Amino acid sequence: MEINVLKNYEELSSTVADIVEQQLKEHPLSKLVLPTGSTPLGMYKELVSRELDWSHVITFNLDVYLMNIDHPESYQSYMRKNLFDKTNIYPDHSHFPFRPTSVFEDKMDGSMGIDLCILGIGSNGHIAFNEPGSSFLSRTRVVDLSEQTIQDNSRFFGSVDDTPKQAITMGLGTIMESKKIVLMANGVNKLNILNVAMNGEVTESVPASILQNHDNVEVYYCD
Ligand code: PGA
Repeated sequence: MEINVLKNYEELSSTVADIVEQQLKEHPLSKLVLPTGSTPLGMYKELVSRELDWSHVITFNLDVYLMNIDHPESYQSYMRKNLFDKTNIYPDHSHFPFRPTSVFEDKMDGSMGIDLCILGIGSNGHIAFNEPGSSFLSRTRVVDLSEQTIQDNSRFFGSVDDTPKQAITMGLGTIMESKKIVLMANGVNKLNILNVAMNGEVTESVPASILQNHDNVEVYYCD
């Protein structure tokens, strides 16, 4: 698979923001799947600065920690801070995975209705919180986070002990039903796993490798 290498983080952020902007302008009623984490922060900043019309858009987040949703590091807080509070999206139009997960999947039409899904990639090859070993057929569900992910995410929580150990994530099967997928990766520490995922064996031990089986995926990287 082609990995589009961009000059720097600003270009990564504006390139993916361009894709979202085009989607919203061509299809104001779009259903989007959105990521959290450090990589998409610049993309959200770009999108907010463009003052787009989000009034008909419906969003679904890829995953949430199992934790108090009012915690400043919850993904609900992240989305409010970086996108929702700064756009005209209707609160009723933004959804996070919840239990029962089958009801969440029904809400998003099992993701068959998703027009555009933006993803990051974890240092262990996860997409959303589908850790290595996740079934390619998996649906939205509660998962235990891997040691590597807990370690990676502890930078947001100050210590491993304070970092959530469980999450609710869209499944790999769910994500793969999206009509278009854009994966963004930032930093040399992601380059090796990105290459393995995009051009190595398609295997459940590298969750992102499933994207090789999707016919509408774009991958953007900067170091
Ligand atoms: P990051 O996380 O953007 O904070 O590196 C990516 C991910 O784990 O999917």
